Amino acid sequence: MKVTILEKEPSVLNTFISEIRNRAVQQDPMRFRKNIERIGEILAYEISRCFEYRTQTVSTPLGTKDMPLPNNKVVICSILRAGLPLHNGLLDYFDGAENAFIAAGRKHLSETEFEIETGYYAAPNLEGKTLILADPMLATGQSIVAVLEGLKKYGTPKEIHLACVIGATEGIQYVEKHFPKNTRLWIAAVDEKLNNKGYIIPGLGDAGDLAYGTKQ
Ligand code: URA
Repeated sequence: MKVTILEKEPSVLNTFISEIRNRAVQQDPMRFRKNIERIGEILAYEISRCFEYRTQTVSTPLGTKDMPLPNNKVVICSILRAGLPLHNGLLDYFDGAENAFIAAGRKHLSETEFEIETGYYAAPNLEGKTLILADPMLATGQSIVAVLEGLKKYGTPKEIHLACVIGATEGIQYVEKHFPKNTRLWIAAVDEKLNNKGYIIPGLGDAGDLAYGTKQ
């Protein structure tokens, strides 16, 4: 699996990542969602560089111009609920994309142990398409692997791109083990480790809560 860590080449992306981490700024949910969306747009741009392009002729008021335009059939799949702002950012750039939504959450067996429960599958046919899986926090990697398993009944995509904001090495190694070899991971930042509750350290906290509020 080819892994691209965007923060390795510093850019304006780091401003958005610093704001979602910064506890003085991240508490504004509208700003938090907007920053995740902007990171989604940057990830979309990077992913688009390895699409297939087909030359099409565009008519302007003064002539014509041949332009290579993306030819991939894109499906963006998000994990509810934290994936939604990232999904919107990806969709801002891939206007014609189809969309899939799957709920995945941790079912706690004890303070430190959990398993992943998935549900609410709303997905189009994936056969031969470019599947982009949006998961902002790649912590243990178990949710995204459970989603991959659940998507099998919708067909085999031509290629899979994982679009993530912050991850931990452990999660990256887990997805490397479970995803097809030609999967590409695009991730804004990679942090040191997970704590004993499976949260990324230093990370940012709970992305779903910061975007949409706490839940019971
Ligand atoms: N999900 C989050 O929202 N944050 C983490 O650190 C890990 C998983």
